[in-house]
Amino acid sequence: MGDTNATLNAKGDTNNFEIKSGTLGPDVVDIRKLYANTGMFTYDPGFTSTASCDSALTYIDGEEGVLLHRGYPIGQLAEHSSFMEVAHLLLNGELPSADALDDFTYTITRHTMLHDQLRQFYQGFRRDAHPMAIMCGAVGALSAFYHDSTDISDPEHRKISSHRLIAKMPTIAAMAYKYAIGQPFMQPDNSLSYTGNFLRMTFGVPAEEYEVNPVVERALDRIFILHADHEQNASTSTVRLAGSSGANPFACIAAGIACLWGPAHGGANEAALNMLHEIGTPGKIPEYIARAKNKDDPFRLMGFGHRVYKNYDPRATVMQKTVREVFEALNVSDPVFEVALQLEEMALNDDYFVEKKLFPNVDFYSGVILSAIGFPTTMFTALFALARTVGWVAQWNEMISDPAQRIGRPRQLYTGPAQRDYVPVDKR
Ligand code: SDX
Repeated sequence: MGDTNATLNAKGDTNNFEIKSGTLGPDVVDIRKLYANTGMFTYDPGFTSTASCDSALTYIDGEEGVLLHRGYPIGQLAEHSSFMEVAHLLLNGELPSADALDDFTYTITRHTMLHDQLRQFYQGFRRDAHPMAIMCGAVGALSAFYHDSTDISDPEHRKISSHRLIAKMPTIAAMAYKYAIGQPFMQPDNSLSYTGNFLRMTFGVPAEEYEVNPVVERALDRIFILHADHEQNASTSTVRLAGSSGANPFACIAAGIACLWGPAHGGANEAALNMLHEIGTPGKIPEYIARAKNKDDPFRLMGFGHRVYKNYDPRATVMQKTVREVFEALNVSDPVFEVALQLEEMALNDDYFVEKKLFPNVDFYSGVILSAIGFPTTMFTALFALARTVGWVAQWNEMISDPAQRIGRPRQLYTGPAQRDYVPVDKR
């Protein structure tokens, strides 16, 4: 047991702050009384050294490349679990019994339909609207249809809103795709698995039966597991901050979707595949690696680097293995995978990437698989949002039910003008 106190000697004062320990990972210095005791704020743009909350959902060890959900390693969950089982684990804290999993899956399945008025909502978009623009709008609009369950102080309301969000994301995402390609929306089929139902709503057509490919279903379900939750990343922190004001869960998840869309975050999977296509052949890799290292060039290797992982992202390991499985099962190949493998190899042997500890992250290989399955690049981040809704909802529930939670309201270091008097326009 290390020190339990941190001492700050500043401006002639000495203040002590409690050091708190969690189950795993870095201790924290509890600075909640810092401003009251010292009149000073901490300063941490980008929150590189800030714990915004305590949470029991997900643990990441960035140095060791470890990712645990409720204590279970991501590699074991990807190998042995299902997305519905991981959803139950994140929401309820334990791996479910077979009966509990059946009940949970049945409940989610029974909420996959959308209010028919929402179909009209889609008609207002241009056909070439980015699916993430539609996802932001459609999920935000859900609160207009569920006034019966937006009292966040009611655990039952929180539960049904959580189930509705997890259940309806595949339907909303599939409809965004259908709308873009001008095909009719497909209604959910409750006889299929969560992921199988999504595949049919996306790639099936009313004119014929759709056969779910079990290998693709398993691969996509595993990809959803890999994207389910990831501690206090930017979009999860957005959901928590929106939720801290008491906003309804649909509005909070819509805020998370908007944040995830950024190319530095969930939008990186779309940007990574576009980058691999732009590179085109292994021969052009050195040119792009040189650009990524050039301080005067804004280009970055998309799908590389991470705020927390300073080792290989364990999700990227599973993703690369899944590429090989899907290619073999579908008997396809894609020269872009070869470009990705050689790019990884060259980058990981380059001092710049080694010194800055830049490794492939979850977004580096995901686009290669999603493209092989048939998704356009514009759908990649929508799929990330579909899967991350489980984590966002679990984190939102954890925050709302924490008695210590308060509205999030950071302060600042003010660098603007000191007070000055108004000058009439004829005197300026
Ligand atoms: C996700 O937080 C999460 O958990 C996110 C996520 C999740 O599951 O929720 O894991 C999902 O968002 C994964 C990350 C996807 N984004 C990308 O792949 C985009 C490319 N990566 C980078 O933009 C960057 O690595 C970030 C945004 C991921 C991390 O940014 P940081 O932690 O703020 O690091 P930084 O931008 O300060 O970079 C540190 C240094 C810089 O060089 P110096 O100024 O120190 O000289 O590394 C360089 C950067 O220029 N660098 C890169 C690079 N990433 C960082 N150089 C080239 N290519 C890159 N990809």
